[in-house]
Amino acid sequence: MAIQRLSLTNFRNIPVADLMPAAGINVFIGKNGSGKTSLLEAIYLLSLVRSFRSKNITKLINHSAEQFTVFAQIKADATTAYSLGIQRKHQEAETEILFRGQKPAGVAELTATLPVQLINPDTFRLLEGSPKERRQFLDWGVFHVEPSFMHAWKRFQRALKQRNSLLRRGRIDPFEIQLWENELAINGELITAYRQEYLARLKPLFASLLARFLASQAFVLNFQRGWDKNLSLAESLLASRVKDSEQGFTQIGPQRADIRVAINGYAAMDILSRGQQKLVVSALKLAQGALLSELRNKQCVYLIDDLPAELDRQHRMIFCEVLEQQSGQVFITGVDADALAEGWQQPKSISWFHVEHGQISPKPYLSTK
Ligand SMILES: Nc1ncnc2c1ncn2[C@@H]1O[C@H](COP(=O)(O)OP(=O)(O)O)[C@@H](O)[C@H]1O
Ligand SMILES: [Mg+2]
Repeated sequence: MAIQRLSLTNFRNIPVADLMPAAGINVFIGKNGSGKTSLLEAIYLLSLVRSFRSKNITKLINHSAEQFTVFAQIKADATTAYSLGIQRKHQEAETEILFRGQKPAGVAELTATLPVQLINPDTFRLLEGSPKERRQFLDWGVFHVEPSFMHAWKRFQRALKQRNSLLRRGRIDPFEIQLWENELAINGELITAYRQEYLARLKPLFASLLARFLASQAFVLNFQRGWDKNLSLAESLLASRVKDSEQGFTQIGPQRADIRVAINGYAAMDILSRGQQKLVVSALKLAQGALLSELRNKQCVYLIDDLPAELDRQHRMIFCEVLEQQSGQVFITGVDADALAEGWQQPKSISWFHVEHGQISPKPYLSTK
């Protein structure tokens, strides 16, 4: 999986861009405000039809234009390529998507075709942010490797909504609530089993990456499934019915699951520096990509915004080495070309681009030292 061609029109400060990125590593160098993050945002959009910076997608339309377009040709394997276009107009309420010439059934179709992982200066927040973000991270991985996950997830969400609305109604029909609890229990246990199986496979890959990033630190990746360890989900739902109806929502279950990273017995976010936290989260994300490739033979696209930020030279070099050894396509941005020129085993295979005032063009690296 790799983007062979990428065209942008009126996307943020980029009026027009047409690139042929390499299947391996692409480095984008430019001053602050030149448009580097915008470029990554456009690729992220192709996978998820949303931005990591703005809630409202119309913010991505260039200020002096009526619409933006992002178009990509995605290489699926040696002989197959798909086209994907996304357009948003100010006057229209919906974002138009054309995938292989047709309107896709849902965003999941795009996400499955083009798995994207973002590593940016906010990445360390995964450790200290809300459990919701960590669940999203975990489920991204499960979704991509377990084809039945989505089905169980949708049924679970529907049942959860129904149970919550019954809880808020006051007088609860025990028969009706039992029906939804059965549905919740079946799908919730399934989701949890998928998550646990996934984490069991992820752990060794995470461990080996982390050993390279943070040598000699003993870590544990803990999974909390979201309800009492000694009860089944059905038992737990029954036991919390009264409390749940007081609160008006379901307080236990996989919708409350969390993952935690502990280093030497302490929560990672409490003892590691921001740079180290960034490395831990990067190791988690890179492990996800490696697992996807191992289990599904699918490569994910890495968007790495401002790689040198908060990493010292040694860790930057290890990072580059790790990126070069994995099989996915990589888009890296940085302000300083020299900081991103070291650490490559095969410097000749790196594709360099220069970004200036929204113009993106290939430009071979020339040392300024
Ligand atoms: N909708 C928009 N239209 C035009 N310019 C925009 C829009 N949104 C953001 N910008 C501008 O685009 C520039 C590039 O931003 P960004 O991609 O974050 O740069 P970089 O990552 O290279 O520092 C910024 O100067 C910002 O003010
Ligand atoms: Mg930026």
